[in-house]
Amino acid sequence: MSGDFQAPKGVSEYFPPRSGIFEKVVRKLEQVSLAANYHLIELPVFEDTQLFTRGVGESTDVVTKEMYTFEDRAGRSLTLRPEGTAGVIRSIIEHGLDRGQLPVKLYYRGPFFRAERPQAGRYRQFYQFGIEAVGLDDPYLDAEVISIAHRGFLSLGLKNFDLQITSLGDEESRSKHRVEFLKFLSTLDLDGETLEKVKKNPLRIFDDKRSEIQAQLKGAPVLLDFLTAESSMKFAAVKGALTELGIPFVVNTTMVRGLDYYTGTAFEFVHKGLGAQASIGGGGRYDRLMRTLGGQDLSGIGFGLGIDRIILALESEGLVDSSNENSKLNGGYLDLFIIPIGDAAKLRAINLIENVRKSGFVADMGFGDRSLKGAMKAADKLSARHVLVLGDAELQSGQGRLKRMSDGVEESITLDSIVATLKNSL
Ligand code: HAM
Repeated sequence: MSGDFQAPKGVSEYFPPRSGIFEKVVRKLEQVSLAANYHLIELPVFEDTQLFTRGVGESTDVVTKEMYTFEDRAGRSLTLRPEGTAGVIRSIIEHGLDRGQLPVKLYYRGPFFRAERPQAGRYRQFYQFGIEAVGLDDPYLDAEVISIAHRGFLSLGLKNFDLQITSLGDEESRSKHRVEFLKFLSTLDLDGETLEKVKKNPLRIFDDKRSEIQAQLKGAPVLLDFLTAESSMKFAAVKGALTELGIPFVVNTTMVRGLDYYTGTAFEFVHKGLGAQASIGGGGRYDRLMRTLGGQDLSGIGFGLGIDRIILALESEGLVDSSNENSKLNGGYLDLFIIPIGDAAKLRAINLIENVRKSGFVADMGFGDRSLKGAMKAADKLSARHVLVLGDAELQSGQGRLKRMSDGVEESITLDSIVATLKNSL
């Protein structure tokens, strides 16, 4: 039965057992962020459309082609957030968070929306975990941000990925490069649409997937060669700190981030088992964003990690077995499953599991009117560690037999001391 409705095209959905992996990924990333003194910011999923056109930039596909924009009942233009940074900066300015201790260190997670062509690893509603460190321009902060993502990936067990970094320099570096780059582009054979794109942000041409374009770009002037002394020193400091931290990286001279606000350090984590949508996370520094949005002239740096793609990456590295609730990552398990026979037993069972749950164990019981055999099967499917059958005899004697499912050994227990028994055996 497929029912009358389907989810909208291209959205990602998580339900058990796979949703257990989702939860675990978020929890691990939260742990590494909290350990570095980043704290939660929870933001609306829709914002004033202008926030994104101005913040993310009009040369980007995200703004020109991919925004879910609608009018509310009062005729205001709102957009489902395609990314998190603009909203974080908006909130920092609006609530004066930048008037206290700097940097402001925040993390966020949740759904984001881009009307992209759906394919494996690319969705119209997807999930990100992100952090932003706002208010200071310090290359060691860049290294910290990168190291948090790196530590997050390692703590999930991922190995098969590369860190690519570059520097987009400051205004002066970019404008010097731009002159030479435009000169170079004018010698190429480009169609009208491409020329139009190039006018808004010449670097975006590196994003062009067509081989005839890529072939022409060989020998193009490289932005890294135009860095001012200051930008160059900062980039060297970031690389030095990453080396000190033992974080391997490759410098990618033609990296183009999909959003326009980047300046200075930019980076991407690329997973080698994912095919076309290989970027499991990316970020960088943004010097102008806060000023552009009407705030102080403060710099910031952050990343957004794609939770959906991290899950695909974990699966590609064999770290998750979605068919098994007890897999290494999703941690799904059940300490106790009670099978009550009859209404009186159900009443006792609901009471017993309440106590067991209060003591921090995971417990469940058989509902409905299943046969004992059917209920045992259910307990097995749920990977319950212990099973207790509760019938008239058990109710009368106050005693039961707790079956350990790993080896089938049964232990006689007093029902009232079930919590203590579980504590001893786990
Ligand atoms: P982004 O590179 O556009 O950066 O997205 C970050 C990550 O989100 C990507 O590396 C990818 O893993 C995931 N992602 C993006 N689009 C999709 C999609 N359609 N389906 C599945 N996953 C996707 C940002 O969003 C910046 N706000 C990151 C940042 C924070 N920069 C500074 N601070």
